[in-house]
Amino acid sequence: MSPKTAAPKAAKTPASTADVAAQRAAHLMPLPGPMFAKPIQIITGKMQFLYDENGKEYLDGFAGVATVSIGHSHPHFVSKLKAQIDELQHEPPLYLHPAVGGFAKRLADKAKTVNPDMEVCFFTNSGSEANEMAAFVAKTYTGRHELVAVQRSYHGRTLLTTALTGQHNWRNQAPYPVGVSFTPTDYAFRFDGTPEQSTAAAIKGLEATLKTSTQGKIAAFYGETIMGVGGLITPGREYFKAAVDLVHKHGGLFICDEVQAGVGRTGDHYFGIKHYGAKPDIIVMAKGLGNGYPIGAIITTKAIAESMKGLLHYNTFGGGPMAIAAAEAVMDVVEKDDLAGNSRKVGDRLMSGLKKLQLKDERVGDVRGMGLMVGVELVKDRKSKEFAPDLTIRVVESMKDQGVLVGKGGLEGNTLRIQPPLCWTLADADRTVAALEQALKDA
Ligand SMILES: Cc1ncc(COP(=O)(O)O)c(C=O)c1O
Repeated sequence: MSPKTAAPKAAKTPASTADVAAQRAAHLMPLPGPMFAKPIQIITGKMQFLYDENGKEYLDGFAGVATVSIGHSHPHFVSKLKAQIDELQHEPPLYLHPAVGGFAKRLADKAKTVNPDMEVCFFTNSGSEANEMAAFVAKTYTGRHELVAVQRSYHGRTLLTTALTGQHNWRNQAPYPVGVSFTPTDYAFRFDGTPEQSTAAAIKGLEATLKTSTQGKIAAFYGETIMGVGGLITPGREYFKAAVDLVHKHGGLFICDEVQAGVGRTGDHYFGIKHYGAKPDIIVMAKGLGNGYPIGAIITTKAIAESMKGLLHYNTFGGGPMAIAAAEAVMDVVEKDDLAGNSRKVGDRLMSGLKKLQLKDERVGDVRGMGLMVGVELVKDRKSKEFAPDLTIRVVESMKDQGVLVGKGGLEGNTLRIQPPLCWTLADADRTVAALEQALKDA
């Protein structure tokens, strides 16, 4: 068990959960909100822990959907943001500010580990917006408009990024912009053959998509290093090199969506794509980049960025001083505390605990991912591999009741998502495996 820490004091006495839920139901869009049958209210947070209105502690295994990278209210993050708001709160890109260029260089230097030509950034407020920008740049650079995305992908909620999302339940804004084709997923667990054959089939599928569903030359291919919303589907290690080769042969850029996988989450490296040895032309980031402060970014080469010269484009908040202070604080901590190394170490422990559990329980179909980006696909039994969404709901609820929050995802809603703050300890990994074991027993 992780040691209990005292809940930080809330600024004001919280309202009752029932009142908060009623107000939300009355005045917010009737879209999916609280994920539990008995919703929880979260009032304060400290590093990897969250606290409800009664001070009950939860171990956070979902990090605000893979977003709180260095920890809730991390002291360095808090003090940097406080200092910045005292000095200057907002400034548009019309004036110079000393921080943004320096941070862009720091981020581009990180990206040089996967493509030595990375030089130039553009900042946005979200991952969706950053993916939009990536398409804009790719289209401008190549002079073409066609995009290829992967089935079961998730790239955001603007019109174009919804069109790039390969999951029917998220595709609810039709009609979409034309020019997006989909290619099969390298989903080894559900492939009838070896993982290597799964990768080979996905590459063949990409070749077929490029030949049959596009004009043969495209603007870009979008790939998530690990498909977070899609259920932590983790392509084989040979997938991206082969895919990028094909994409380049067809004149397209590789847009690597690292919105969830970036900032060291996959372990050892700042970017998940480093594990694959493939070279992105544009990297898209958000979520963990700001630890919950809204910021998105694209990083690309000078040659690609030059194609934007002379075009009018603008973003009111992107790269503002508060967002950059947040991202600087995150990068400081990721570097100083070697959070990428910690992700690998704690992720390995988590993975090995989950694999042991898999040996004991037929309903643990697949355990996959890298570092602290881990998915557990639950099935009726491993032979039939029948999706088990109801079991998944019961497991997530039971873990919550035991004080451990994990997410749920995948097109069929049967994958547990364990994507905690990167400051998790070995004890946190053990506690989560124990809570899952208990939840499966109870379910
Ligand atoms: C891989 C990926 N890309 C893009 C997005 C969209 O980011 P945002 O919600 O910040 O617009 C998400 C959000 O979950 C994501 O997981």
